[in-house]
Amino acid sequence: MVTDVRKAWTARILTLFPEMFPGPLGQSLAGKALEKGIWRLETMQIRDFAPDKHRTVDDTPFGGGAGMVMRPDVVDAALAAASADGLGPAIYLTPRGRLLTQELVGQLATGPGVVVLCGRYEGLDERVIEARGLIEVSLGDFVLSGGEPAALALIDACVRLLPGVMGAEETLDEESFTAGLLEYPHYTRPAVWNERAVPEVLMSGHHEKIKAWRQTQAEETTRSRRPDLWDAYRKRGT
Ligand code: ADE
Repeated sequence: MVTDVRKAWTARILTLFPEMFPGPLGQSLAGKALEKGIWRLETMQIRDFAPDKHRTVDDTPFGGGAGMVMRPDVVDAALAAASADGLGPAIYLTPRGRLLTQELVGQLATGPGVVVLCGRYEGLDERVIEARGLIEVSLGDFVLSGGEPAALALIDACVRLLPGVMGAEETLDEESFTAGLLEYPHYTRPAVWNERAVPEVLMSGHHEKIKAWRQTQAEETTRSRRPDLWDAYRKRGT
């Protein structure tokens, strides 16, 4: 139990759709940790920072083209309020960003928390990205309709690393054992299912052999599916 709420890791989300939160983060591991006060979730409605009576947050793009662009003045005012107490860094979720990695997740989870800006419409005026030094982060080479599902994924990845969130701490140890590799395959009962038997080594009770087999499986899977990860793994080892 975290008693001092001021010290709990905080996700502060700037969004046009605060109802999307906590969503799935209110369930399971993250949800239980949220209830316990291990982390805090705060949403801020970007529209509240629009100066006009219509609460306008977007406008047409200079140079023409389809879609609307989020205004820099409105987003800047929202970011100023969100960063006033020094919580940071500020992340802007966009398919143009650097790919989210477990390394970045780890860094974010060790800090006091994150400010996450969720975009909608065609994009965000470039000047506020520069002026606020936003870290642009992407979940992958696909386009979501907005940053909110990406924010849910980013926060989930951070929260599971917070002390006291995962039931079995070993699960995290296991991850560092195969760091940089894809996971080895898992099996449970029944030992034979639809004529498919579990690999014999796993039934042997021989821990060293099991460890070696899992390592080989993780390496083989990574090499065939993700040559990019495999290259990086091998370079690190040399
Ligand atoms: N917003 C829209 N698409 C996204 C993506 N792929 N990653 C992060 N944020 C996004």
